[in-house]
Amino acid sequence: MAASPWKKYLFPLSHLLRNSVSENFLSHSPEETRTIAADFAVSLKSGDIVALQGNLGSGKTTFVQGIASGLGIVDVVNSPTFKIVGEYLGKIPLYHIDFYRIESVNELIQFGLDHYLYGDGVTVIEWADRFKDSVPSNIDIIFKFVDGMRTSRKIVIKTIY
Ligand SMILES: Nc1ncnc2c1ncn2[C@@H]1O[C@H](COP(=O)(O)OP(=O)(O)OP(=O)(O)O)[C@@H](O)[C@H]1O
Ligand SMILES: [Mg+2]
Repeated sequence: MAASPWKKYLFPLSHLLRNSVSENFLSHSPEETRTIAADFAVSLKSGDIVALQGNLGSGKTTFVQGIASGLGIVDVVNSPTFKIVGEYLGKIPLYHIDFYRIESVNELIQFGLDHYLYGDGVTVIEWADRFKDSVPSNIDIIFKFVDGMRTSRKIVIKTIY
């Protein structure tokens, strides 16, 4: 089922009125990040928009690999940095987008972001905070390094209702 197009117009309002629930995780390894993500993916549904935020190398792509495996996708998921979007077919379609090299909102429009946001799959966007007004996310995930721990990451999953 396609996501409601109304979401696009109600987005600014919903951000003012929204309720959210946050879950905190501490991952000690890339494998653990993938497991956290695969468990999280079980609750995903068509039309969900997941905004990923965190510094270079903080584990966003690693998390998307876990989402893919949770959705039953067998293809290898890599960073779509050079092609903007990776499309995968699983239990529901997964659209993996990376804003890292996007320079303007115009570029997003030309690339056809809406086609994915209001399509039939789950859209997961790395560096979503670069153009957050263009992303009506209902799930925000923040990745943080843990001081002095090379392979630990704090992951906060915030679901908006
Ligand atoms: N607990 C952890 N969770 C995720 N990745 C980890 C963890 N510990 C170490 N790593 C390593 O950190 C790196 C994370 O890379 P990844 O490509 O997932 O980050 P990213 O946030 O997508 O980076 P970019 O901003 O460049 O897209 C990988 O090399 C991974 O092996
Ligand atoms: Mg990445």
